[in-house]
Amino acid sequence: MARRPFIAGNWKMNKGPNEADELARELKSALAGNTAVDVAVAPPSISIPAVAARLQHTGIQVAAQDLHPQVSGAFTGQISGEMIRQLGVAYALCGHSERRALFGDTDVIVNAKVKAAFRAGLLPVLCVGETLEQRDGGQVEAVIEAQLSGGLEGLEADQVAAVTLAYEPVWAIGTGRTASPAQAQEVHAFIRGWLGRYPDYVARTVRIQYGGSVKPGNAAELLAQPDIDGALVGGAALNAESFAAIVAAATA
Ligand code: 13P
Repeated sequence: MARRPFIAGNWKMNKGPNEADELARELKSALAGNTAVDVAVAPPSISIPAVAARLQHTGIQVAAQDLHPQVSGAFTGQISGEMIRQLGVAYALCGHSERRALFGDTDVIVNAKVKAAFRAGLLPVLCVGETLEQRDGGQVEAVIEAQLSGGLEGLEADQVAAVTLAYEPVWAIGTGRTASPAQAQEVHAFIRGWLGRYPDYVARTVRIQYGGSVKPGNAAELLAQPDIDGALVGGAALNAESFAAIVAAATA
C-alpha cells in the first residue's frame, strides 16, 4: 500500500498567539477540501492553544517544535510532552537542525526526546541532515546513519514504524537553495535502505519528509520521487496560500 503523503509546516519562532490564530483560520479555509494528505503545523509552543482550538475537527494536526525529555521538574523554561499532549497535539519535532546547532541537542538528547514523545502519546518527527561541509567532505551517509541510529536507539520496531523522518540538509534550510530532486531522492533511498535492519514492514511504512526551501514551485518535483513521502516546510508554511499549494502538490 502506498504511503499517505504528510506535509508539515514548521513555523519556527514566528507567529505569536494572535497571528497564529489568524494563519490557522486561513489554513482552515485554504485546506478545507483536502482529504488525501496528512497535514500538520508546528507553531511556537505559546501559540499552540490558539491554533489547536482553531483547527479542532479540521483534520489539520498540530505539532510541537520541541519537548523536554522529562515529565516535570526543575527545568526552567522547558515544556514536557505530557503538557503538550494535554492541548491535543499529535506530533513533536525532535532534533531539528536548529535545535542541534543552536541549542546543543546531541543524538543522545534527541533520542531521549523521541522516547519522551512516545511516552506522552505524541508521534515523533525525527529530523536528520548534513551540513554543507559534511556534504563536501563526502560524509552524508555517515552523518545520516549516526543521526538515525542515535535518534532511534532502543526503540521497538513498531515504534520506529510510527516515526516520521525528515531529511533536512542544513545547507538547504532557509537558504533558497533546495536539494535537487535527485539529490534528495538519493538520501531518502539511503534512509529507506538503512531501515532494512528492522522487519520489512518498517521500511515500507515509515514516511520520510524532505525539508529545506520547499516552495510551491519545487514541491511537485520533489514529492514525485519514490522515497519522498512529504515535506517539512519552513518559510513557505507562514503563508496559507503557499502552504496549501504545497499540500496540493502532494496529491499530483
Ligand atoms: P525552510 O523551508 O524555510 O528552508 O525551512 C525548512 C525547515 O527547517 C523546516 O523545518
